[in-house]
Amino acid sequence: ADDGYRLWLKYDVVADAALRKEYQRAAQFIVAGGESATLKTAAEELQQGLQGMLGKAVPMVGEEKGRKGGIILRTDAAAAKNAPLGPEGYRVFTDKQNIVITGRTDAAVLYGSFALLRQLQTRQPLTNLALTSTPKIQHRLLNHWDNPNGTVERGYAGSSIWKWYELPEVIDPRYRDYARANASVGINGVVLNNVNASARYLTAEYLQKVAAVAGVLRPYGIRVYLSVFWAAPKTIGGLPTADPLDQKVRQWWTSKTDEIYRAIPDFGGFLVKANSEGEPGPQDYGRHHADGANMLAAALGQHDGLVMWRAFVYKADAKGDRFKAASQEFLPLDGKFAPKVLVQVKNGPIDFQAREPFHPLFGAMPRTPLVLEVQLTQEYLGFATHAVYLAPLIKECLDADTHAKGPASTVARVVDGSVDQHAVSGIAGVANIGADRNWTGHPLGQANWYAYGRLAWDHTLTSQAIAEEWTRQTLTTEPRAVATVAGLMQQTRSIYVRYTTPLGLHHIMGQSIHYGPEPWLAQSDRPDWTSVYYHRADSEGLGFDRTATGSNALKLYQPAVQQLWGNPQTIAPDYLLWFHHVPWSQPLSTGRTLWDELCTRYYTGADSVQWLQQQWASVRPQLDAALHADVAARLQTQHKEALWWRDACVLYFQTWSRRPIPAPFTPPQ
Ligand code: GCU
Repeated sequence: ADDGYRLWLKYDVVADAALRKEYQRAAQFIVAGGESATLKTAAEELQQGLQGMLGKAVPMVGEEKGRKGGIILRTDAAAAKNAPLGPEGYRVFTDKQNIVITGRTDAAVLYGSFALLRQLQTRQPLTNLALTSTPKIQHRLLNHWDNPNGTVERGYAGSSIWKWYELPEVIDPRYRDYARANASVGINGVVLNNVNASARYLTAEYLQKVAAVAGVLRPYGIRVYLSVFWAAPKTIGGLPTADPLDQKVRQWWTSKTDEIYRAIPDFGGFLVKANSEGEPGPQDYGRHHADGANMLAAALGQHDGLVMWRAFVYKADAKGDRFKAASQEFLPLDGKFAPKVLVQVKNGPIDFQAREPFHPLFGAMPRTPLVLEVQLTQEYLGFATHAVYLAPLIKECLDADTHAKGPASTVARVVDGSVDQHAVSGIAGVANIGADRNWTGHPLGQANWYAYGRLAWDHTLTSQAIAEEWTRQTLTTEPRAVATVAGLMQQTRSIYVRYTTPLGLHHIMGQSIHYGPEPWLAQSDRPDWTSVYYHRADSEGLGFDRTATGSNALKLYQPAVQQLWGNPQTIAPDYLLWFHHVPWSQPLSTGRTLWDELCTRYYTGADSVQWLQQQWASVRPQLDAALHADVAARLQTQHKEALWWRDACVLYFQTWSRRPIPAPFTPPQ
């Protein structure tokens, strides 16, 4: 039975004998082309993958010596000659009847090797190969929200994979498999610990442990980063303050950073959550975010590292609009950040809801490189029980047009630096990985890790293509089953939105654990953390007015975007209640009134989970039985909970609308 541990790197034998023969002829030997750990890693991965798929060992040889039918790895500083390859871009091509994998760096050759393996895993022909790809975004990170005690904040796949108590002596073999998976999709950096950070990671004791992990990840082209606790100079440095302009504090960070680089010469840098949700920060001392970020940039000095400073900030103000909070604090700081600083912005203005408009900071801080942060762990998307393929959500944000520099100023092009000509670029995915045998709890959660990496590398890929690719490598290569699985995956996110937060509803989930519905929540220790604050239901209608008659948050966007979303008659219904308070009786573009449309989406959304179940049932013969049963069981839970969401929300909103549930959905009397 497939326990899911091998992820999309299963390398099952090619069943089609003719195709297997073709592959065998093309892959009779491997020339590693060098001694570096990364080239060796690439060659070993090819050996492992080919052994699995071809059913026989492929030897490593010193040089090809005129032989044909092999795979040649070659790091070549001039590899950009024929194609504009960045340092990590690869070319895979046929030359004198050998397959050559080349790039300017060893890491590029590693990525090219995985691209070749993917070609075989998806059963593509190897004749006249011409694969060329270079990543559009430089720093492609996973952010782990993992704590020193082994728990994972908002993690639903077991405890942390990092065994801090065993490190640095004990190296869990899983770290290497984790690195392989990341490298296979081009992830080149990982923040090991939670943004709500413990200062402990900066102690000499923990830096040894971090260095041990870095040592495992390094051959795979992956650098480690740490989240820092702002007040560390006080808690572990013995200083009376953590004021970023205090000389002793600055000195402390400088020598701490030097100590880190002595232990980890390729350390990636710092991720910082400051003055957010109770975390300390520079504002505690009357300084602003740029003072804090620039102080850390100065501490990095000549070291090759970055500061990723998070913009996830808001004040608990029941009268304000949390939508605007990050813009209010960060817009005035554009142009004030040091060159090593990137500001990390969540995809939407609130908090990883099932659907959000793109964050208004994208396109609005032209002098600051912005990292896009997306969440792979399904905090607001049904944990590890609901099937939600996230590529459509991520693409919706990447493809959104900010209009910052005219049309086609998409979020993707803001983030990759091309809109504002930034030399540095980054993207971050909050990991959904844990110690569960299958890594992600829900087997389909693996696809979110995979899709994130693929999109971080190339945001022009389609979610459909990625779903098919992942399915072929992970579940089945049988074409009809691939089409069915990819087809259902593509629908999961919009189905989830329909039965939880249709029409632009947001933040009405259960408080604190963020699971299940709680639209009636009216009291909370944080005044802007109630559900009623967000949905604004009353006897007249529903939705948060963010136009000029309301909070005017819409004004944060470019005029073209304001136009797109400013008119309740013409805005896409999916975004309606994000921006408008709409009368219950208002007819929508769908032909139904708001109330009827709301009910329709809740009911058809919940029913669609049964469609997912049917689709899934239809591919049972083609899939591993245990894996199939696992997903089928989770779909049962999902259906039960979709009904829970539907009934809770419809009945609650009905107390305001005082209208009947439309006929097709009325339960028989
Ligand atoms: C959410 C999440 C927190 C997390 C925070 C963040 O609010 O619930 O657990 O710390 O986001 O991104 O900082």
